[in-house]
Amino acid sequence: MFELSTEGKEFVKKELARYETIESAIIPALYRVQKENEGWVSEDAIGHLSELMNIPEARINEVFHFYTMFNKKPVGKYHVQVCCNVACAMAGTREIADAFMKEHDVKEGEMTSDGRFTFTRVECLGSCDTAPMMQINDDYHENLTPESAQQLLKDLK
Ligand code: FES
Repeated sequence: MFELSTEGKEFVKKELARYETIESAIIPALYRVQKENEGWVSEDAIGHLSELMNIPEARINEVFHFYTMFNKKPVGKYHVQVCCNVACAMAGTREIADAFMKEHDVKEGEMTSDGRFTFTRVECLGSCDTAPMMQINDDYHENLTPESAQQLLKDLK
C-alpha cells in the first residue's frame, strides 16, 4: 500500500494551500507520487492522494489518465523517452527508438528483464531546435546521432 513520505505529504499540503482550487494541486501531487514510487503511479497511490487531498479518486484519475507523463505501470531504472514528433522524427529518432527496443528485445513501454530500461516514444518535448533528442529520467539529451544515443545508454551505470 503506497503512502507518501512525511515530506511528500507536507509538499501536497503546501500545494493545496497555494491554489484556489483543489484540482490545481493534482498535477504536482501526482509528480510527487511518481517521484517517490520509483517512477510510476499505482492505483492505491491514487486512493492515498484522494484521502490526503479530500477529493474523489475520479477527479484525480481524470488528470492522471489524460496526461502521458504519468506512468501507469512500473518503469525501468532509466525511463528513456524518445521524442518522435516531426522535428525529431525527421532527424532520425524513430530509427533510434526502434534500434533501442530491438537491441534490448522489448516492445515500447515494456521494462527490460534486468529492470534497467523502459523505452517510450513521446510527443514534442519542447526542444525542437536541438533535434533529434530524448529524455532519460529528468534529463534532456540533445543533438543526438545514432551512435551518441547508443553510447549514452552504455554509459549509464
Ligand atoms: S519535435 Fe522533438 S523536441 Fe520538438
